[in-house]
Amino acid sequence: MKFFIDTANLSEIREADALGVLDGVTTNPSLMAKEGITGDARVMEHYKAICEMIDGPVSAEVIATDYEGMVSEGRKLAGLHPQIVVKVPATENGIKAIKQLAKEGIKTNCTLIFSSGQAIMAAKAGATYVSPFIGRIDDMNYDGISLIDQMVGIYSNYGFQTQILAASIRNVKHILECAEIGADVVTSPLKPLKGLLNHPLTTIGLEKFLADHKKAQG
Ligand code: E4P
Repeated sequence: MKFFIDTANLSEIREADALGVLDGVTTNPSLMAKEGITGDARVMEHYKAICEMIDGPVSAEVIATDYEGMVSEGRKLAGLHPQIVVKVPATENGIKAIKQLAKEGIKTNCTLIFSSGQAIMAAKAGATYVSPFIGRIDDMNYDGISLIDQMVGIYSNYGFQTQILAASIRNVKHILECAEIGADVVTSPLKPLKGLLNHPLTTIGLEKFLADHKKAQG
């Protein structure tokens, strides 16, 4: 299972990378805006900075919504750094753009996936990754994890090579359920990722070990 961090914040990326278990980064226009990264040149510089910080794929999203615009933006993003994966929304134009970018050998991440139908279209178009947004589905009172389950089944029925990148992660439980089902990748904010390590018995156990060691040393 691969872990990506879902942020455009450089210090969070550095912190996750220092753990030694980080495989990649995903960003989106909202995450870039949250970091105050505005203007084409700064956005491009920021993507490059992320690529230089880590060893792994970095998803950078197109802003265009028309086919030609998505393809030309995708080429420009891919040209920035070999680690860039072009993030394209699961729309009709997006599927066509993924098909074209895949033909050119450009890696893509089909984003804003909320149904298994969209996931099939993305895989058939040749997307490298698909991003089902499980937290946003849960927010609507539906079950995001069951979408991951359906997608794992469908992709295995047909041997699709597209990797399931579970996104919109809200908590540790989401990550663990994705792991049980067999999502290829989970992209998570830093807190749930680090939360995987939390267990009160570890904290209590360590305190006791250290206290006993101190006592024994007199
Ligand atoms: C996926 O790549 C998106 O960046 C992200 O996971 C969206 O998460 P959110 O629903 O918390 O905004």
